[in-house]
Amino acid sequence: MNILVIGGGGREHTIAWKLLQSPKVKKVYCAPGNGGIAGLAQNVPIGVNDFAALAQFAKDEGIDLTVVGPEDPLLGGIVDFFEERNLPIYGPNGKAALIEGSKSFAKSLMKRYNIPTSEYESFLDYESAIAYVREKGAPIVVKADGLAAGKGVVVAETLQEAEEALRQIMQDHVFGEAGARVVIEECMRGEELSLLAFVDGETVKPMITSQDHKRIFNDDLGPNTGGMGTYAPVPHMSDVLVDEVVETIVKPMAKGMASDGIPFKGILYTGLMITEQGPKVVEFNARFGDPETQVILPLLETDLVDIFVATIKGELDAVDVTWKKGSAVCVVMAAPGYPGEYPKGQVIQGLNKVRDQVTVFHAGTKETDEGIVTSGGRVLGVVGTGENLEKAREAAYAAVAEISFEGAQYRTDIAAKAMKHQK
Ligand code: GLY
Repeated sequence: MNILVIGGGGREHTIAWKLLQSPKVKKVYCAPGNGGIAGLAQNVPIGVNDFAALAQFAKDEGIDLTVVGPEDPLLGGIVDFFEERNLPIYGPNGKAALIEGSKSFAKSLMKRYNIPTSEYESFLDYESAIAYVREKGAPIVVKADGLAAGKGVVVAETLQEAEEALRQIMQDHVFGEAGARVVIEECMRGEELSLLAFVDGETVKPMITSQDHKRIFNDDLGPNTGGMGTYAPVPHMSDVLVDEVVETIVKPMAKGMASDGIPFKGILYTGLMITEQGPKVVEFNARFGDPETQVILPLLETDLVDIFVATIKGELDAVDVTWKKGSAVCVVMAAPGYPGEYPKGQVIQGLNKVRDQVTVFHAGTKETDEGIVTSGGRVLGVVGTGENLEKAREAAYAAVAEISFEGAQYRTDIAAKAMKHQK
């Protein structure tokens, strides 16, 4: 098969790498790809939202399957666009992807299907939103309804912070249209982790659990980022708790959407808070996580192509999704200054020194005559695997020590807390 992967980050590098392990795959193309993807697949210089050019490419090259990485094209309806042209594509259609694109839509579905989540109200009008936060008090969570590149969520510890967030979103329009509506939620306390699942409409096949580290600095300090590191599986998430999440959250969501005529086909990403009252939903995403994918797919035993093809046919129930034993840890190396402004074009050294048990997935990199250089905020995801978290973590950090570029920053505590639970 010839496969086209859409996107150009660490997630797409990992998807391409995994697909190429399938005996069914002849060639993988990636649009637009990155410097690392170029080493195993063919980069195609087409943007992720240029549906007409992507579909034309798929047609001309005889692409048997297109796989979509990021949320933007999913929300823009790339799956509908390809399906209308009879081009096979993996991912949810535009209507189903709205569970990520509109927080109030996702919340209304959760309410309708009785899925545990925080209490909320949504507002189009600034004065009513202010009155609501004053009535509820802090701490309280203020979210822009639409996509805001992960920056649209404010956990306000004081009323002043909540009012400032509302001012910025609803009056200064810092997120544009994405902030025309806000969702205001009760603040949940507990540990946050993710459970992703393959879904083909009704059948749900859960993946292993994973945990992201969203803040830029150790000990979860500093501003939020796209994710500075992950590990999988989460040792303190028991099988019983995973079953509870699948039965009370993931399956009811898939079933409800199917019966409401918006069947979800693709990766259903459930962001969870494990509260004292049990697991509750923080958010749903309509795609693989980044950098969650970098620790999940190395542990997947089943052929990913079989899962994707079966999903498109609505036959996921016939696929046995199995996982390797052991753990994976991903340490993100980021450009200096990230998540603020950062330089580009710095040469990356040491990529060839990486040994067994380690794979380096590229995010913001580019191939040049000087070698591989940085071209984004999150530059690399260095992934170690091993029989347990400790070994996986050692492998990842040993490789990070070999790789360098000017001002590289990374957290030194990825998976550190989880190891204490494992002992
Ligand atoms: N790592 C968080 C996300 O992919 O949404």
